[in-house]
Amino acid sequence: MSLSRRAFVRTLGIGGAGAFSTALIVGRGREALAWGPDPVEEMLQASPDTVMIILSSNENARGPGKAALDALNGRADFKVGRYQRDISREDLPAAIAKSLGHGAQAENILTSTGSSHILEAGVRAYVSVGRPLVTGTPSYGNPARSTRAMGAEVREVPVDSNLRLDLDGMADAAQGAGLVFLCNPNNPTSATHPAEKVSAFIEHVVSSSPGTGILVDEAYIDYATDPSVASAIAESLTYPGVFLARTFSKAYGMAGLRLGYAAGQTGTLDKLSRAWGLGEVSLLTASAAIASLNDPSHMEWEREENRKVRDFTINELGKMGFESAESQTNFLFVDIGRSAAEFREACRALGVSVGRDFPPMEQTHARISLGTMEEMQRALEVFRQVLTN
Ligand SMILES: Cc1ncc(COP(=O)(O)O)c(C=O)c1O
Repeated sequence: MSLSRRAFVRTLGIGGAGAFSTALIVGRGREALAWGPDPVEEMLQASPDTVMIILSSNENARGPGKAALDALNGRADFKVGRYQRDISREDLPAAIAKSLGHGAQAENILTSTGSSHILEAGVRAYVSVGRPLVTGTPSYGNPARSTRAMGAEVREVPVDSNLRLDLDGMADAAQGAGLVFLCNPNNPTSATHPAEKVSAFIEHVVSSSPGTGILVDEAYIDYATDPSVASAIAESLTYPGVFLARTFSKAYGMAGLRLGYAAGQTGTLDKLSRAWGLGEVSLLTASAAIASLNDPSHMEWEREENRKVRDFTINELGKMGFESAESQTNFLFVDIGRSAAEFREACRALGVSVGRDFPPMEQTHARISLGTMEEMQRALEVFRQVLTN
């Protein structure tokens, strides 16, 4: 067993014998991995017996539901050696479209091996030198990184005092831009915009800057418990150039299986698929995703578990005097009143890995992903030690 695998099993307190177990699939640590050294490996090398808690990549600590695990285990036999397709290419897009409602059809869904590819495709399709990207700051950094790598301009609009995206400022910056990246809920600030504000923003940009694409990244929207928060699927089906990016890596607990998708009009999706390779989703992943979509009660359970952990963690941090931004996600953005790096190093030494720096707020705020209740109880002891001593 590799060091990482040992770490995941110990971290989750599960794993063991099953062919496909939660521990194998959650793939925890990937987002953090993309930005720096592997936090898991680093900690194990420093202290091989450390019991670690990984709260750095916003994954689902509980992994996929039983229906998804059963679907994987039911298919893991010699037949995977064949190019068989007893799930048709339409089945997964059709199941996703059905789950989104609003009249979405299979043709309105473009799957990819992770939503990172959709973000890359969006930038390649809509941004160019002279047609900038508009993004909040701080926000999820991949589109800005891809834009800079292309030598194109990034217009960054700071979040407001509540750490929400400044939608008016972004609409102004969108004039003549190639693409607007609207991360709702926003990673890393966790703040979320209600459906009616997102809809008004889209209508405003579509009419005031025709030809500007709008990418709404809803990676965390399944965690929203506020009923005013909803997907912009209707807008993506209504307007050319407006599309969603969604992922099975977060609330569906399938980060290691790699599945994301775009939703929008067929012309918009054609433009995306021509711009960047999106990968081919494996039969195992498709089976697990369809099984998850057919089991909405598990998602309700997952959302509620996460809400309990979120409320508990916000409350405990509040008692220590540290305020978290309003969160509809599975992570918190906390005003720790010191540098994120200092906090991160101190936590790491005590067996807890928290999020990387998020400029321009890295001198005051830290992002903490939510683990299981048990993990957070232990992590809070570490936070208390680090923040209040
Ligand atoms: C806001 C946001 N979008 C997209 C992604 C990419 O996720 P994936 O490629 O695993 O689907 C992430 C991952 O952390 C994210 O936080």
